[in-house]
Amino acid sequence: MKKKEIKSEFTEYDSVAELSSAEQKLISEAEQAAANAYAPYSEFKVGAAVLLENGKIICGSNQENSSYPVGMCAERVALFAASANNPGIRVTHLVITSSSQNPAAPCGACRQVIAEYETLHNHSISILLKSSTTGKIISANGVKNFLPLMFTRKDLSR
Ligand code: THU
Repeated sequence: MKKKEIKSEFTEYDSVAELSSAEQKLISEAEQAAANAYAPYSEFKVGAAVLLENGKIICGSNQENSSYPVGMCAERVALFAASANNPGIRVTHLVITSSSQNPAAPCGACRQVIAEYETLHNHSISILLKSSTTGKIISANGVKNFLPLMFTRKDLSR
């Protein structure tokens, strides 16, 4: 028997002033996107901004449905739109903003989708979470910090 440990690494910031101007721009884009959320059921608006290696920014917001499970999270709306319209172009950053007290982390399904694009491009994505209520920000380099022992396409090879 061998006990093992997996560590998560995060950085906390008290304000956007501590971030680069590129990161500040992405946060502002994500916050604008949150305003377009269609969230009449939860009334919890989430915005996401994806930065591609070619400099393009693609945004998304959560889109709910009267049939609740059919709705989609902001980050998956943004990531899928980015991939659908820019196939093969690597995602470098993902920003997620919401009004929760603590910066809201991506749900399990979104973590799996982030893992897919990291694996596809063999590169980790810089993930920034911001609470638009408190201004608190958390950053982590790579979905491994949210999703230990992740399942990826590599696991499909027999
Ligand atoms: N939501 C997101 O958009 N992203 C997350 O990572 C967590 C949850 C949305 C889904 C739903 O529309 C609302 O927030 C409440 O769960």
